[in-house]
Amino acid sequence: SLRKFHISEDCGFILPEPLTDLPVYYKPWMDIARNMPELISSHSLRLRIHDMPLLETHLLQSYRELRLAHLALSMMAMGYVWQEGERETVKVLPQNLSVPFCEVSRRLGLPPILIHADTVLANWKKTDPDGPFSMENLELLLTLPGGESVRGFFLVTLLVELAAVPGLKSILDVINGVYYNDVAMVTTALDVVSQAIDSMKHALKLMHEYVDPSIFYGIMRIFLSGWKDNPSMPEGLVYEGVHEKPMEFSGGSAAQSSILHSFDELLGVQHEGHSGAFLRRMRDYMPPSHKRFIEDISGRPSLRDFVLQQADERLTHTFEQCVARLVDFRNYHINIVTRYITIPASRAKKLRENKQGLVEELDAIRKAPTALEERGTGGSGIMVFLKTVRDETKDIYISQS
Ligand code: ALA
Repeated sequence: SLRKFHISEDCGFILPEPLTDLPVYYKPWMDIARNMPELISSHSLRLRIHDMPLLETHLLQSYRELRLAHLALSMMAMGYVWQEGERETVKVLPQNLSVPFCEVSRRLGLPPILIHADTVLANWKKTDPDGPFSMENLELLLTLPGGESVRGFFLVTLLVELAAVPGLKSILDVINGVYYNDVAMVTTALDVVSQAIDSMKHALKLMHEYVDPSIFYGIMRIFLSGWKDNPSMPEGLVYEGVHEKPMEFSGGSAAQSSILHSFDELLGVQHEGHSGAFLRRMRDYMPPSHKRFIEDISGRPSLRDFVLQQADERLTHTFEQCVARLVDFRNYHINIVTRYITIPASRAKKLRENKQGLVEELDAIRKAPTALEERGTGGSGIMVFLKTVRDETKDIYISQS
């Protein structure tokens, strides 16, 4: 059952009803975490973190308290490291922050860095609790520099996760249908998966409406960047009071969402080489129970073999359509990356080379960091990665074999 894997019937991998505040003892953290954009723009976040008391973590008891603490501490860590941009980074995260951050991370089985499970899955609240999951009725709990675009980026991603939920639930029916040799059951359930992928694409389209490419690229993106495979933090980061040696952790990446990992395992998409290794590593940046769910799917008898053996026309067609929609979703993601990363990166390059004619509105782009022009914030070579993953999806079409 889904509950065994901490997957919610209504919300899937999304944390249902995240807490909005911690016990009052943790006020020093929340006061900082709630004011990230202001503290960063006034260059005072690092000072505030140095002055913060070293708090005990044993008063954090419930799972939702731990998730909110991870969200708050990880946002503070990103702000601390990147406050002055990509040039004046730091080598050490001070112990007031690193010690509780590593303790909370260990209890959750998560890495001590900002991840998808923080910014998207555990960072939302409904304005009207009885209202719908819609952009109008959703708010972030904590935010980063970049104003409305930050809100847009995290909440649109949340709506993509939500659109996947019916498909996620149907995975169990597909697996059971294969087990019981029930072609009709598999076909029906697979059709739900296919529709869910389609509605994920529709949700993803909202990105264009809610996220400004210059703000995303020039202001917000650096705060999602990590200290592994990142030329501006080549040595990693020392977590003072925890480990003497620097540690490397990847920045935020949609590859940390468990959704596509689950669908890939169900359909039998195989990821190899660098991109396969990156995707496998990203499973360690997910809540452990969600990683176990993905591994559980991968251990089941192959759906694709079942489709081939049955040679049922409707089933085969449904499978093919599901693959087509997954390819389509990945193509759409590539388009988004072109608009939000590739194009702004090339504009930033031009602006650097040719210093005249600077336009005010391009200021954010002109000042954008340069280290991740070709890489995702997770550190992968972004376009090669996305296209390889898309092409590996195409490899499972039945009609080709
Ligand atoms: N992974 C996304 C990026 O590279 C957030 O900007």
